[in-house]
Amino acid sequence: MAKHTHDYVDLKEQPIPEGSHLLEVDNLKMYFHTQDGIVHAVDGVSYTLDRGETLGVVGESGSGKSVTAMTLMGLIDMPPGKIEGGDARYRGKSLLKMSEQEMQHIRGNDIAMIFQDPMTSLNPVYKIGRQVGEGLRLHRGYTKKQALERAVELLDLVGIPNPEKRVNEYPHQFSGGMRQRVMIAMALACDPDILIADEPTTALDVTIQAQIIELMQEMQQKNGNAIIMITHDLGVVADMADKIMVMYAGRPVEFGTADEIFYDSRHPYTWGLINSIPKQETDEKKPLTPIAGNPPSLVNLPAGCPFAPRCPFAVDICHEQLPEHVTTETGHYSACHFADDPAFLKNAPATSRTAGSRRAAAEALADTAKEA
Ligand SMILES: Nc1ncnc2c1ncn2[C@@H]1O[C@H](COP(=O)(O)OP(=O)(O)OP(=O)(O)O)[C@@H](O)[C@H]1O
Ligand code: SF4
Ligand SMILES: [Mg+2]
Repeated sequence: MAKHTHDYVDLKEQPIPEGSHLLEVDNLKMYFHTQDGIVHAVDGVSYTLDRGETLGVVGESGSGKSVTAMTLMGLIDMPPGKIEGGDARYRGKSLLKMSEQEMQHIRGNDIAMIFQDPMTSLNPVYKIGRQVGEGLRLHRGYTKKQALERAVELLDLVGIPNPEKRVNEYPHQFSGGMRQRVMIAMALACDPDILIADEPTTALDVTIQAQIIELMQEMQQKNGNAIIMITHDLGVVADMADKIMVMYAGRPVEFGTADEIFYDSRHPYTWGLINSIPKQETDEKKPLTPIAGNPPSLVNLPAGCPFAPRCPFAVDICHEQLPEHVTTETGHYSACHFADDPAFLKNAPATSRTAGSRRAAAEALADTAKEA
């Protein structure tokens, strides 16, 4: 098995074909065929990503964020999953058409993912050093000793104290925040072209969140890789994302540059997310404004706009007709019937990218560091 490592042409060393992007996701659809019916988990996701860029993928629980990422990684079981349309191209090559053997080269090496739940992706019976070095042995032909040495360096890099000792410990000996750092070390081991981080900070306190994000950004500055940051909190990606895709009920409802999403948003669901961002100064006094109601079942989607049952602006047409993407000349799109109506767009809330909780946290951290 290990033999083909030498013959394999590492895709991330190949030039990106003229006119292509690093990653192009094009009307991607992944449905699950279950006893209860067809779950429309990912229904027409489109975006492009280039080297050095960060894409934020934002949406409530169950909106299809993880399934989208796992589809790119070839990690969805088919069946029950089935690709119902679209494509995803990495450096011009379709990920969906690759064999499992080709995908094994891509995963961890070209595209690496920090999974949502660190405990399910760390193996409890193996020492941390072995797990962090695994990718290097597999993709780079490192010896056991070389991989362990590099694992020590990587743990040091992600801020784990006493890495020489820690490589010989097991996952249960690490705290939640430290396990999250181990996951990041694992994902960074082979210098991936694309780093996908699926809610890497939800379980962590604000200070550690800020540190982890800073760490990913430092690595990005050094290596020029792209980042896909998945989160339910628009504030988390406010100042780090170049582009943002907002997902609702398996569909991308708005996509644009971070400035377009924050200062020129064209979808009422995004407006709701903006209103839900905790604002540091008012945190204690004012409750957040969560969006009332729940997302629809992905098995029996209502006719019309999936957001209509919760949308304060819904009118008759919204309940009858599925809105198409309304796209501007810069590629900013919104799936709302009124996305190009200037009077309607006046309803967008005033906001600021720097009002995000992440920026506030980072600033608090910088202040503490200055004082110390
Ligand atoms: N193997 C599966 N079989 C059937 N349905 C599935 C399967 N995996 C995921 N789903 C469904 O696909 C939808 C999208 O799930 P996904 O995990 O992508 O949501 P998410 O946006 O990542 O949510 P969260 O924020 O909670 O992580 C959900 O309705 C989920 O129940
Ligand atoms: S199409 Fe209608 S229901 Fe959907 S987001 Fe726009 S206004 Fe709201
Ligand atoms: Mg998820």
